[in-house]
Amino acid sequence: MSGAGTVRDALAAATDALGAAGCDTPQLDAELLIADALGVDRGELVTGSASDVPAPSARAIGERVRRRVMREPVAYILGRKGFRHIELAVDPRVLIPRPETELLVEVALSAPRGARVHDVGTGSGAVALALMHERPDLRVSASDSSPGAIDVARANARSLGLDLPLAVARGLPDPIAFGLSSRNAGMRPYDLVVANLPYVSIAEMATLAPEIRNHEPHEALVPGGNGLEAIRDVLSEVPAGTRVALEHSPRQARAVRGLLDAAETHHDLAGRERVTVGTAR
Ligand SMILES: C[S@@+](CC[C@H](N)C(=O)[O-])C[C@H]1O[C@@H](n2cnc3c(N)ncnc32)[C@H](O)[C@@H]1O
Repeated sequence: MSGAGTVRDALAAATDALGAAGCDTPQLDAELLIADALGVDRGELVTGSASDVPAPSARAIGERVRRRVMREPVAYILGRKGFRHIELAVDPRVLIPRPETELLVEVALSAPRGARVHDVGTGSGAVALALMHERPDLRVSASDSSPGAIDVARANARSLGLDLPLAVARGLPDPIAFGLSSRNAGMRPYDLVVANLPYVSIAEMATLAPEIRNHEPHEALVPGGNGLEAIRDVLSEVPAGTRVALEHSPRQARAVRGLLDAAETHHDLAGRERVTVGTAR
């Protein structure tokens, strides 16, 4: 028995509803949500477009489309997001990993063999877990000020079979949390600190899409006033001489270079200044 006509009908109706709700890519979103509800991949939607949608699947499609009409991000509705070569579980406790953050991983991939790398503000664990996946020789650890984010990162590490030491900490955690010598010993416990910390200013927040403004965690986006507070706070704790790689907004590039020695900024695929590498003072 048919619940909502054919797959083609469901796609057309969902695309119309999402377009009317102001979604940027209504057809793509409709395909992803309907494929997920039917338990097929997007290619199979085309080959099966004349099939009838069974009633239980029609309800599942309706529920997903209603959430998207409220501008909930597709990744939260699906509960997953691809990042480099791994797939991560995501929910509203964590920022959805962004394509531009893949550049931060690329830059960190040049770390020397066996380097101790720490990811501050790890969220879903995206940067730390992608690094471990691509460079098993690195000794990677990660932390976040949000206990909920650490729970998500821990679950992602477990499902990827990666043994990532994690800690809840605001700023740079004392390395003693990972069985390394305390930073009070005047040593440099990490060879490289990587971070995609919140960098949206309060003024910019109002200009962001509803998907971000109304659904992603505020703590993951806005550090305080002008957007540089979290970066400055973490840098004040990184021992001098440690290499640091920071993601930032293009308009912050010059200011971030000014906080590091021997700083160099890398451009994202859109040609914008996105990741600055340098040495902590
Ligand atoms: C922009 S999100 C990035 C998440 C992840 N690194 C990624 O790229 O997908 C920033 C993360 O930093 C965390 N955070 C914010 N302020 C922090 C601080 N002062 N110290 C440690 N973590 C912080 C937030 O909870 C959030 O998970």
